[in-house]
Amino acid sequence: MTVSAAPAAADSRAKLPTARHYVMCPPKHFAVEYSINPWMDPTSPVDTELAMKQWEALKQTYERLGHTVHVIEPQPGLPDMVFSANSATVIEGRVLGARFRAPERAAEAEHFRRWFTTRGYRELVMPSRINEAEGDFAWTGTLLLAGSGFRTDPEAHAEAQEVLGVPVVSLSLTDPRYYHLDTALFVLERGERPQIAYYPDAFSAGSRRVLERLFPDAVVADADDAACLGLNGVSDGRNVVLPLEATGLAAQLTARGYEPIMLDVSELRKSGGGPKCCTMELH
Ligand code: ARG
Repeated sequence: MTVSAAPAAADSRAKLPTARHYVMCPPKHFAVEYSINPWMDPTSPVDTELAMKQWEALKQTYERLGHTVHVIEPQPGLPDMVFSANSATVIEGRVLGARFRAPERAAEAEHFRRWFTTRGYRELVMPSRINEAEGDFAWTGTLLLAGSGFRTDPEAHAEAQEVLGVPVVSLSLTDPRYYHLDTALFVLERGERPQIAYYPDAFSAGSRRVLERLFPDAVVADADDAACLGLNGVSDGRNVVLPLEATGLAAQLTARGYEPIMLDVSELRKSGGGPKCCTMELH
């Protein structure tokens, strides 16, 4: 192996984890009963018990890393409620709720709204535009990267900026397999000099240029990393939870000083989900 040139300045920084607060929903009623993305095939079986085990392993991983996991009660008849990331965007205590595109998921938003209200969140707004929350919004600590093309309305980006009071960067998704921003991009490090990983082919040409401009030394994933939903990762700044199969991405992250943690999320992927989809962060 050859020793490569000194890494870019942004990558030579020590990777320090920061404590996180997550909201998760056990996949007690998980199933694939309808199809609202190309991953979902209602005719092929899902093992709900195995999904529960995979979800438990994800939750235990966060707890082992010292993060706090809040659990919301799953509701019968809402098989996608396990994907808690879609139900609110929380930045500095301000909550922007969700409004789902698919009628099958619409009722999830209200369960999460109540969860926040009963916990004393005062600054909570339910959106007027279709907004699938952290599915399409990624907070870098300075910018809110916002996806549209399949789920979240482009108008919801302006609404998020107004409600949350943070600058929004709109990005266009173009590949139906990567229907949410969090299937194509995730934040590795937050703060003044944030870092991301992403799969360029999931974005329009203009959005790719925006990402190159904002994140010139980002981790660029390949088609194999994307195809196992490897971009649906969760990072605490050092430890990065990824689907088991995202080996190329894991190698890139290791080379940059991150610690990949590989988990089996096979059952959740049958619904088009991975670690991030199951993890709402309270920023
Ligand atoms: N079956 C769900 C849907 O299509 C999966 C959502 C995954 N969540 C996410 N944050 N990408 O809506």
